[in-house]
Amino acid sequence: MVTRRNLCTLWLLLLLHVSESAFKFDLFKRNPEPQEGDIRLFGYESVSEGRVEVYHEGKWGTVCDDGWDMAEAQVVCRQLHFPGAKSVVTGKDYGQASGPIWLDDMICKGTEDQLLTCVFKAWGVTDCSHKEDVGVICETADANVTSGNSTHSLDHSIGLSDDLGQIFDSGNGCDFLISAQSATGNRREDGTLEMVETTICTHKMILSQFPLFNASEGITSITVNVSQSCQPHFTSFIRYIYTRKMDVTFSSVQCIHWMASKFGVKQLMEDTGRLFSKILPEDTLFHTQVSLSEYAEETGDLVLQENCIQYMAWNYQNLTRSPAWMHLSVKLLGALLARSDLVVPDEYFLLQTVESWITEKGNSTSLETQVDLLSRIRFPMIPAEKLYDLESNSSLYSTHKNMYRENMLKAFQFNVLLFSNLQSNPKFNKQDDYQPRLYTAEPWSTAIGPLQKTPLNPVRNHYATLYNNRMRYEYGYEYGSPYSQTTKSFSTPVHNSLIFKDNKIPWEANVFMSQRECLNRGLRCESFPLARLTPQNQLTQQSNILFRNRLLLMCQDKYICQVQDFKVNLAYIAVNETQAVAYPCPDDQYTYRFVVRPEYV
Ligand SMILES: *[C@@H]1O[C@H](CO)[C@@H](O)[C@H](O)[C@H]1NC(C)=O
Ligand SMILES: *[C@@H]1O[C@H](CO)[C@@H](O)[C@H](O)[C@H]1NC(C)=O
Ligand SMILES: *[C@@H]1O[C@H](CO)[C@@H](O)[C@H](O)[C@H]1NC(C)=O
Ligand SMILES: *[C@@H]1O[C@H](CO)[C@@H](O)[C@H](O)[C@H]1NC(C)=O
Ligand SMILES: *[C@@H]1O[C@H](CO)[C@@H](O)[C@H](O)[C@H]1NC(C)=O
Ligand SMILES: *[C@@H]1O[C@H](CO)[C@@H](O)[C@H](O)[C@H]1NC(C)=O
Ligand SMILES: *[C@@H]1O[C@H](CO)[C@@H](O)[C@H](O)[C@H]1NC(C)=O
Ligand SMILES: *[C@@H]1O[C@H](CO)[C@@H](O)[C@H](O)[C@H]1NC(C)=O
Repeated sequence: MVTRRNLCTLWLLLLLHVSESAFKFDLFKRNPEPQEGDIRLFGYESVSEGRVEVYHEGKWGTVCDDGWDMAEAQVVCRQLHFPGAKSVVTGKDYGQASGPIWLDDMICKGTEDQLLTCVFKAWGVTDCSHKEDVGVICETADANVTSGNSTHSLDHSIGLSDDLGQIFDSGNGCDFLISAQSATGNRREDGTLEMVETTICTHKMILSQFPLFNASEGITSITVNVSQSCQPHFTSFIRYIYTRKMDVTFSSVQCIHWMASKFGVKQLMEDTGRLFSKILPEDTLFHTQVSLSEYAEETGDLVLQENCIQYMAWNYQNLTRSPAWMHLSVKLLGALLARSDLVVPDEYFLLQTVESWITEKGNSTSLETQVDLLSRIRFPMIPAEKLYDLESNSSLYSTHKNMYRENMLKAFQFNVLLFSNLQSNPKFNKQDDYQPRLYTAEPWSTAIGPLQKTPLNPVRNHYATLYNNRMRYEYGYEYGSPYSQTTKSFSTPVHNSLIFKDNKIPWEANVFMSQRECLNRGLRCESFPLARLTPQNQLTQQSNILFRNRLLLMCQDKYICQVQDFKVNLAYIAVNETQAVAYPCPDDQYTYRFVVRPEYV
């Protein structure tokens, strides 16, 4: 039942808000008597256009058009509280004036608030006739603002939110009970599950915006089953229904999203959905990433699922050291192993992590599953000298001898044969096995940074200002000479197959922070920061090798927040709002990791 009192409280609140503000805005001010120096637009219908008239010595008079243009018109419109002037027109279009011509040869800058602060000859000094009277059409905020019929909207919804929060907190006049219950995981003596319950007394009138609460006539309570981890957030979720305000953290976001979708609270669901990828880096224990990706799979949210898996693939090394690692499902581990954007020191490291995962899981993974996971390792990418040690060092070699032998043979062949030889054998057509992932160990990678926050708004052509003494000093202070620290040289084999071991290619990696640094290398850069990775000698005669190099951005040296391609050796880094990096980096302090990836094509 909706109580009268309850309704009254709400209306009273609304009324209070409106009347309070009506005092501040003196909407009903009348001003019948013109004052010396007042101006008006004399016209027929609209108050926003007409002949310009000035009140002086008790008489309205006109203004001559000598020297009159938009600057003067702007001042008139501003003085009359219009947003601006639309055009200058002829005053006599609004009827022939008969009074004095008060002003002539007006000169305004256009920024004045009052017409009379502009320069003019003197009152009534003129050689004009009324044919030269000026008129002005002012802009109106809304074409519908005409004489007297204006709309003023007052928005105090923020205050209302607090007041509704107080109604929720006090529970006054509530008429609908919501209980959230979850199992503690223990059993009672009689064998039934032990439950905990939170009961909240709410107002049907407010819940009625969301039909899924079932707060209709005749129903006075509902009970909802929630998970144990969701239980503590239930109250703040219901409070949100009143106030539309809530603080969300990485520990509550999944639960809030779940409740919002259960009760059809669309806006909250969408907002928390967008929050997901922002909060991913905050959980260094990886529980959030793992449980969110499982949640996304259950709910069929493919975008969220891809976001989570991508984050884990980029930060695979830290995932393996996290408490969540042993709780990965076979499916999730399998999905990670299928990806080429997995960031690992080398493929051997990957094999070791999978072997130890399987070993620690013991008998809970079937032999078939083990083979399935192990065969996702790209054996041809394992460095040849490490391949050789596999038989003695691998903990699972004896269990899966055939699988290892077959894959090692394939890998050795890859290392000693040209790809053209391999290709002719249909057995070797599983392309993925020959594709490198993102290997961060030597020799395939080098890093520059961390570099201080990028210069704010580095504008093209302003490199000279950036290079004044102050900036020069700052660069020197932050990272010494820009040349030594934002440039690195290294070399890699032309390809990771053993036959190219001694066929080296030197690379230069740069991070440019200003146009000056670009110009020094004969480049004109479009935006900053900009990363460049260039081979230092003519690229190989091997026409069937292609470099698909990547730039990895590490945030504060903690996690990888972006992986991107080079386009003609260049990678522009988007650091603004609209084109942000994949996962946020709070202080924009990046380490730039360059990864060389040769592929047979
Ligand atoms: C003016 O008001 C009418 C009726 O209320 C509305 O249909 C029209 O869109 C308004 N024009 C502008 C420019 O707001
Ligand atoms: C102002 O509003 C009144 C009543 O809504 C209407 O009759 C009148 O025509 C309006 N005047 C103008 C100029 O729109
Ligand atoms: C609301 O009612 C429907 C139909 O009776 C029921 O299926 C649903 O579970 C109810 N929702 C809640 C939150 O109790
Ligand atoms: C909630 O869980 C209990 C125990 O698991 C079950 O008996 C009950 O039917 C569930 N209620 C709803 C609304 O799903
Ligand atoms: C796995 O199963 C085998 C027999 O099937 C048993 O001997 C061994 O102890 C089990 N290992 C673990 C870790 O459970
Ligand atoms: C294999 O084990 C030996 C002996 O423990 C060790 O010296 C060698 O470095 C290991 N090989 C690899 C690739 O880890
Ligand atoms: C892994 O985490 C540690 C500690 O938080 C951090 O120092 C390290 O840089 C991280 N490494 C990667 C590759 O994310
Ligand atoms: C963000 O960057 C893109 C491309 O780098 C650019 O087109 C866009 O105007 C930038 N937006 C802002 C707000 O600076």
